[in-house]
Amino acid sequence: MSFRLKMEQTAKSKQSPIILALDFPFERPENRKTLFSRAESVLDAAHPYLCAVKFNHHLVLPLGTFDGVQKLVKKVHDFGLMAIMDCKVNDIGSTNQVIAEYYYAAGFDALIANPFIGWEEGLKPIFDVAKKLQRGVILLVYMSHKGATEGYGQTIIDAETGQKAPQYVSFAKKALKLEADGAVVGATYPEKIKEVYKILGEKTPIYSPGIGVQGGEIKSALEAGAHYLIVGRVIVSSENPAESAKKISELARL
Ligand code: XMP
Repeated sequence: MSFRLKMEQTAKSKQSPIILALDFPFERPENRKTLFSRAESVLDAAHPYLCAVKFNHHLVLPLGTFDGVQKLVKKVHDFGLMAIMDCKVNDIGSTNQVIAEYYYAAGFDALIANPFIGWEEGLKPIFDVAKKLQRGVILLVYMSHKGATEGYGQTIIDAETGQKAPQYVSFAKKALKLEADGAVVGATYPEKIKEVYKILGEKTPIYSPGIGVQGGEIKSALEAGAHYLIVGRVIVSSENPAESAKKISELARL
């Protein structure tokens, strides 16, 4: 079964479109064990209200992919959730291939890649590995931070059409054409979600980070067309991660 379908089914059965970004602030390397335990306890508390967990360098760097992170990925799977690696792959093809092979070998169901690298000797090797292993590739389309306007928001001459177009529109069309498993558009830009949704429809689901701390709102992101919401600090840094995750998943259902 494709990653896209697995995500759809998991979100449906868990009744939640919430993807937890399991990110923690810097911890002294000698305290790595504390970090691992904190990650475990947030997962134990929040898992009933999620459909997936997204990992980032916050855990891969201190814990290592095959020591700590792989154990956490197993735990995510044991809870019946999907595991996504937010590595924003952005290098030449031969390197991207090895990055993808390692993350998929660690058990990740999907990874996030940057379409700025283009297809030939860029994205293609990632999609090839993903296809072979039946895993997912999610592409960035418009990032959630303020500076996103400088790259994803700039006007370009589209390489395929020769016409002027916003960069993110060109990326959204690329995500559709390449049959990516998802497109990331920041919840901080609901008007961009709306525009991208018009291009993607229900063919490529929109993953939306930036809820809460970055200023994005659940309602406006979902109403604009986001399928999944990526939420980190609002849950992870809360005094009661279970309560926060529950509240957010309930708000997403309204
Ligand atoms: P917070 O704490 O702000 O965490 O809820 C958000 C998480 O999502 C990541 N992030 C992004 N990932 N495209 C991505 O692929 C984006 O536009 C984007 N914006 C935020 C961020 O690194 C953190 O893990």
